[in-house]
Amino acid sequence: MRRLSRNSKGYSVTPLNIEAGGTLSFKARIEETAKNKASRIVLALDFPFQNPENRENLLAKAQSVLEAVHPYICAVKINHHLVLPLGTFNGVQKLISRIHEKELPAIMDCKANDIGASNQVIAEYYYAAGFDALIANPFVGWEEGLKPIFDVARKQQRGVILLAYMSHKGATEGYGQTVCDAETGKKTPQYVVFARKALQWDADGVVVGATVPEKIREIHEILGEKVPIYSPGIGAQGGAAETALKAGARYLIVGREITLAQNPAQAAKALAASLPHVR
Ligand code: XMP
Repeated sequence: MRRLSRNSKGYSVTPLNIEAGGTLSFKARIEETAKNKASRIVLALDFPFQNPENRENLLAKAQSVLEAVHPYICAVKINHHLVLPLGTFNGVQKLISRIHEKELPAIMDCKANDIGASNQVIAEYYYAAGFDALIANPFVGWEEGLKPIFDVARKQQRGVILLAYMSHKGATEGYGQTVCDAETGKKTPQYVVFARKALQWDADGVVVGATVPEKIREIHEILGEKVPIYSPGIGAQGGAAETALKAGARYLIVGREITLAQNPAQAAKALAASLPHVR
């Protein structure tokens, strides 16, 4: 099922589950993994700041949590928490190899948010490191914004997941604002506009905070089963896993509830067991 190859620089160049000539999208691959693992939990492999001189300890900690938790999750999301101290082509790439060895996809939560030319390079580096998908911010728009990321992703059979409504309180100020169409004058919530763009751009997923289940429900009504909803904000940020799933989330992004637990394996196992069976 998995073919992980490396180029002359040691980069893992083939994403998870891509057979030579295979055509499975990231969306289809993570769904298959969720069924195989009987879990919809995406582990956010985040740890608090540590003195950068201790980065070997940080890498060892990340590896040990992954080792303990992998039977109960369907993907791993990496953030700047690890990319900054460990480096993309040093520690993080080692982690991606381990993640792939566990038959799990790796998602980069870079919230790409720049002009197209820069976004393209950002995506090329993260995909070259072996990431199977990355998270991007639709506020920058399509032309000379996110289009170059989608172009690279489609060429390399990787995924792009869009922010639709973030999990923190201040999200109301951006994702929650009402916008007025310049041509028709019609007023629409920003997150509804982003959900429609996710469909139009054929995104592999959208992120909607578990802290706003009513927004999950509304966005799910727009997306149906075409674009899955990833929901962060469980536990530490106040969101409830079951409420998010009932509202229409397909995957739960969970970090500190697991990574900072005294026993991460037990925390992940208990959370997975408390959720409805994966259909
Ligand atoms: P916790 O510890 O709160 O970690 O479970 C959540 C992880 O997800 C990230 N996060 C988000 N990522 N959109 C995102 O793309 C969001 O709305 C959002 N809210 C939280 C957070 O940075 C951490 O890695």
